[in-house]
Amino acid sequence: MIEQNKKSWNTVAHHFNGKDALPSYGPFAQSEDELGLFGELKNKKVLDIGCGSGHSLAYMAEKGASELWGVDLSEKQIRTAEGTLKDVKHHLFCAPMESEIGLPKQYFDVVYSIYAIGWTSDLSATFGLIHNYLKPGGSFIFSWDHPLYGHLKSQNGELCLDGSYQVEGMIQYQNFKGEEAPVIIPKRKMSTYINELIKAGFTIESVIESEVSSKFDGVDEEVSDRYYSLYKARRFPSTMIIKSVKGIVWQE
Ligand SMILES: C[S@@+](CC[C@H](N)C(=O)[O-])C[C@H]1O[C@@H](n2cnc3c(N)ncnc32)[C@H](O)[C@@H]1O
Repeated sequence: MIEQNKKSWNTVAHHFNGKDALPSYGPFAQSEDELGLFGELKNKKVLDIGCGSGHSLAYMAEKGASELWGVDLSEKQIRTAEGTLKDVKHHLFCAPMESEIGLPKQYFDVVYSIYAIGWTSDLSATFGLIHNYLKPGGSFIFSWDHPLYGHLKSQNGELCLDGSYQVEGMIQYQNFKGEEAPVIIPKRKMSTYINELIKAGFTIESVIESEVSSKFDGVDEEVSDRYYSLYKARRFPSTMIIKSVKGIVWQE
């Protein structure tokens, strides 16, 4: 699965240059400017999981983060990110987020992931690694498709449930972004994300089922059957955003 997804991400990477990057949390969703989940970033060491074209790391640099680290599966994305971050010191790694690649432990103030975490083949290993990367008291913030969103199909102005939310597993698509680029995307329930965070040792601080960003105020929506549409997003959250913290263990 990882090899196939890597190949396909190399094929479609150009569609995602600067897309789904901070301050945006995802399509139509409230942005970091509206939610303020990260707080002060000055002098913080940050790690981006699935850093793509590096635009979220560039946002972190603008906010004064002291160290910029990123991991992504695709060489093509990493090469683009090298260009995006050419004027700032950075540490980028081409690797699956679910693998132990020797990143420093108990080191980062903030680990985050914008529309990438759901690609992992092993959620429990990934959350376990992220928990290890963080200093005690550090935060982990991620956004991903709201797990029910993909099941909502709009047909003639009505939203209908398509398929079963109950069934989890790997879904194979032959095409991605209109290209012949077969990908396997895991389908998980909201409770799976939450329970795996708890199992990894995180304390959940905030769960957001996104509202539509105020930048779309006054924008007319049209009834649309597209996967992401303002019409759907005004009726159901497109994105879930979860902020967790690594608790401090007090020694007697
Ligand atoms: C929508 S893009 C993320 C955009 C990026 N977070 C940003 O802020 O610009 C999803 C990214 O996840 C990466 N990805 C997919 N599976 C992965 C995996 N198992 N490990 C690491 N990265 C992965 C893809 O290569 C892609 O760059």
